[in-house]
Amino acid sequence: MKINVKITVLLFCFINGIISFAGAAPSADEGKKLFEANCASCHKVDKDLVGPALKDIDKRRDIGWIIKWVKNPQAVIKSGDAYATALYNKFNQQNMTAFGSLKDDEIKSIVEYIKAYVPPAPAPGTETATPDQSGTNNSDFGSATLLALLAIAVLLIFIVMLLGRVNDVLKQRVYEKKPELIPENQGYSFIKDTFMPWVRGWNKTVATVMAIVIFGILFAYNGFKYANNEVGVQKGYSPTQPINFSHKIHAGDYKINCQYCHSSAEKSKQASIPSLSTCMNCHSYVTAKDKYNGQTSPEIAKIYKAIGFNEQNKKYDQPQSPIKWIRIHNLPDHAVFNHSTHVKLGKVACQKCHGEVQEMEVVYQRNSLQMGWCINCHRESNVDVASNPYYEKLHARLKKEGKTEIKVAQNGGLECSKCHY
Ligand code: HEC
Ligand code: HEC
Ligand code: HEC
Ligand code: HEC
Ligand code: HEC
Ligand code: HEC
Repeated sequence: MKINVKITVLLFCFINGIISFAGAAPSADEGKKLFEANCASCHKVDKDLVGPALKDIDKRRDIGWIIKWVKNPQAVIKSGDAYATALYNKFNQQNMTAFGSLKDDEIKSIVEYIKAYVPPAPAPGTETATPDQSGTNNSDFGSATLLALLAIAVLLIFIVMLLGRVNDVLKQRVYEKKPELIPENQGYSFIKDTFMPWVRGWNKTVATVMAIVIFGILFAYNGFKYANNEVGVQKGYSPTQPINFSHKIHAGDYKINCQYCHSSAEKSKQASIPSLSTCMNCHSYVTAKDKYNGQTSPEIAKIYKAIGFNEQNKKYDQPQSPIKWIRIHNLPDHAVFNHSTHVKLGKVACQKCHGEVQEMEVVYQRNSLQMGWCINCHRESNVDVASNPYYEKLHARLKKEGKTEIKVAQNGGLECSKCHY
């Protein structure tokens, strides 16, 4: 039994390791979200934007200074801090927004994110307004992971017990042949004298069935949770957004082109959510006052509040508090999807994948976004070789072979590496 105890201890250390690792990791992730939601409008890590590049900020300033600064930059400048004053002058005396509501730990996690930052591979048409990913998608991560680990732990303990039982049976066989090897009684041991006899007492069939049922439930539950939340592939998902934005009004009634707002769909991987300044192209004067007894629509007022627009003098002189749109469509990290390939090259209509968005008051996910869905369409769709100059060579080759069409599937659309990292 000694060996079993050792194995158990080792396993617990191992599992503990995994848990503490899983617990430590989110810091930079958390920081990324906070950075994108609060700071990205003015800062980049590796380039000056409105404010300075924040790379190596942890080396320039100590964490206490950074926290004080982020919570109230004006106070730091007013206090006569020479570094802050010089910086303020260097950046054209722009006032950085005060983030009094950020907690110390949140600011630390932003710094962690900056420390861990690696520049992305250059993508055509980089956009600034990436949708917030902090929606309900990842909120179950902790509990799902813990449950999975728990299931693994229970499974491992079960295996240890089983090995113990095998060990016992083997010993029994040896003792039957050579009784002189039976050791003297070594005193009471919980595992040996209470626990193992209890396990030995189990009826084999009942124990096996029980184990199968327990693990079946645990794994099915986790698998289900994972498929639903982790993977983010959630047909029908339709969260409540911070502004009651209606595609039916904008894309339906007023027939605003999808790409007026989702302009990067043609140029880049992401379609991306428009920045609020796009909304202000119209909403600096479209206030829907007639619907609200001469008052500006409360939903439109949220845009003003977020972007710091002052309705009285029409200036952007108010503090900002960016909107955090909740991301709806979200493939797991191991899969890649590229909008421009489909929208520009493939000329696939948005509605083929997203449904009749222009009729939706609230957007929801129409299709499963699962692998089978991608593959099916690749099996059914033709590559537009005839009218697309990009495929001139392919078209010429097909003509020579006497073919007129080629499916996406035959043109590499089923290769694992095209869709997976
Ligand atoms: C509205 C624009 C704006 C936003 C939003 C903003 N900053 Fe700044 N930040 C600036 C400007 C401008 C400066 C340069 C100092 C100045 O002019 O006041 C600056 C300076 C800094 C500095 C000092 C940089 C250095 O090189 O020493 C830090 C640190 C910083 N910001 C962190 C943040 C963090 C963290 C956030 C998000 C929570 C944030 N900022 C959001 C505009 C902004
Ligand atoms: C006036 C600007 C505007 C227009 C025009 C517009 N959208 Fe949007 N779209 C948004 C905003 C803002 C959001 C984020 C809020 C939401 O989910 O409702 C969004 C969200 C979406 C989403 C969900 C994104 C996610 O988080 O997964 C899809 C899909 C989408 N739009 C497709 C379309 C299509 C298709 C059209 C054209 C029929 C269109 N949009 C026209 C502004 C616009
Ligand atoms: C071939 C299917 C397909 C077509 C066509 C398509 N989309 Fe998407 N769209 C997706 C998938 C899949 C995702 C999820 C991508 C991810 O998580 O990486 C997505 C995500 C989005 C998002 C949110 C995330 C992001 O990329 O910023 C928006 C907004 C969006 N699509 C708008 C549009 C608009 C507007 C069009 C038409 C111009 C369009 N899509 C055409 C499949 C499609
Ligand atoms: C091309 C012009 C245009 C753009 C761009 C635009 N809107 Fe609108 N929006 C309108 C019009 C027109 C109405 C209808 C106003 C009315 O009912 O009187 C409207 C109505 C609304 C309403 C409903 C107001 C209410 O209470 O009835 C909201 C909320 C709204 N828009 C949010 C947004 C957001 C958020 C964006 C940016 C993502 C945006 N709009 C971009 C033209 C635009
Ligand atoms: C509605 C049909 C449709 C759906 C759904 C669809 N695709 Fe496609 N896809 C196309 C078409 C059409 C092309 C060909 C574009 C071209 O090359 O002209 C294409 C091309 C591609 C390519 C490039 C293939 C190559 O040989 O270079 C990739 C990668 C891809 N799709 C990934 C995906 C992924 C991932 C999904 C699911 C999340 C998906 N597609 C869903 C229609 C679709
Ligand atoms: C046209 C794009 C596309 C191609 C080609 C493709 N996959 Fe996928 N795959 C996806 C997408 C999107 C997901 C995520 C959605 C999901 O979970 O189904 C996925 C998910 C998966 C998963 C996660 C398990 C699951 O089904 O949820 C595995 C494993 C996988 N793919 C393996 C492969 C292998 C192996 C190949 C090559 C034979 C391949 N894929 C080819 C798009 C593709």
